[in-house]
Amino acid sequence: MYTISADVFAQRRRRLMDEIGDEAVAIIAGPSMKGRSNDTEYAYRPSSDLLYLTGFREPEAVLVLAPGHDAGEVVLFVPDRDKLKELWEGRRVGPEGAVQEYGADVGLGLSELDEKLPDWLEGRKQLYYTLGSRDDFDRRVIEWTQGLRHRRGKKSTAPGTIVDLRDLLHRSRLVKGEEELGLLRKACEISSEAHILAMKYCRPGMHEYELQALLEYHYRRSGGEYPAYTTIVGSGDNATILHYTENRDRIESGDVVLIDSGCEFGFYAGDITRSFPANGSFTPAQRDIYQAVLEAQKAAIEFCQPGASYDELKSSVERQLTESLVDLGLLEGSIDELMEESKFRDYYPHSIGHSLGIDVHDVGLVRPEDGESRPLEPGVVLTIEPGIYIPAGDESAPEEMRGVGIRIEDDVLVTETGVENLTASCPKTVEEIEALVGSGDASNLDL
Ligand code: GLY
Ligand code: MN
Ligand code: MN
Repeated sequence: MYTISADVFAQRRRRLMDEIGDEAVAIIAGPSMKGRSNDTEYAYRPSSDLLYLTGFREPEAVLVLAPGHDAGEVVLFVPDRDKLKELWEGRRVGPEGAVQEYGADVGLGLSELDEKLPDWLEGRKQLYYTLGSRDDFDRRVIEWTQGLRHRRGKKSTAPGTIVDLRDLLHRSRLVKGEEELGLLRKACEISSEAHILAMKYCRPGMHEYELQALLEYHYRRSGGEYPAYTTIVGSGDNATILHYTENRDRIESGDVVLIDSGCEFGFYAGDITRSFPANGSFTPAQRDIYQAVLEAQKAAIEFCQPGASYDELKSSVERQLTESLVDLGLLEGSIDELMEESKFRDYYPHSIGHSLGIDVHDVGLVRPEDGESRPLEPGVVLTIEPGIYIPAGDESAPEEMRGVGIRIEDDVLVTETGVENLTASCPKTVEEIEALVGSGDASNLDL
């Protein structure tokens, strides 16, 4: 139920191959392992593009797509079988598994890259490849094309043009299919449950990391592999740091706690933010700010109809928040002038959201080469996450508002007829939140 089937992977590869045509070849390489400390490494996360086209998880694999090639059009280079490495590091499917389990026409070991990969470059005019994603690999790609020219003693046998692969591939990743939506819904459901758990068991005197542990425990026990990004638990002034991840401080009564956290399930990301009073009651000033963000967030969700412009979505939220910032006494002046000068940036310094999928900051909504956004269409999933942040040191702000950061983030699906909030199960009205926070029996953590 929660998988992507072999047919879907094959269809994605077919689509890309049809788009590039049989004068071209594409190379998609997974990232290299990264050292963490001495000889230990960070857990490996395959490249999202490679996952999208193959589902293959082992490190450093390389996919070559050469439409119509006599020797096979889908070639997957994978870690070589190696008894000792498999004893220490884990099982490998090897070149045979690349064919039998992952649908490649040809499976080869990574040790054969230099010798074999140029065979699929020869005679192709364009190479679709994302330069800059991996330095060592960029160098090898150049060496292979150069080597091919010299090896064969002919001038035109290697691709003369390198084309950025991202536009075509990410255009396809932007619109989610049924199976992907199944995984995204699950990631959103687990993320929502985790936020409910954190709100339920929050007490002044706890530390931010205790809430982080609760969220991440829930992700793992629910079958999620990792948090989709580093969990943010910021209390008080820490909530005004947009991507605060230290999560070390004690949570005080009177603080608003901002949690931005999501589960990655089957390599698809959830991404939810909730902001709530640590002691279960917002102060009047906190409530006013919260309400302003919530109203902007609800209006923005409604804006996400098929055909809507992402750029207009952004500017409509900026205008609404500018009006609220004036009402709250945080900005002064005419709305048009404040908008002209982007003064909202003093308190709302980020964008309204981003597409969501295999990457938490997913791809395809904005074209890589010109920065222009595409209109929303059915199957697009995006986050809606306005916020207002007032640092403790902001002496121009009313005193009772200082040291408060509020962001509210949901994940929404654009449908044929409107919009569906995939994280609607996570409470967000003032009344719901105040009733939930601290309502759990701390001696029985639902664990
Ligand atoms: N969690 C990062 C973001 O909301 O964009
Ligand atoms: Mn987030
Ligand atoms: Mn987000």
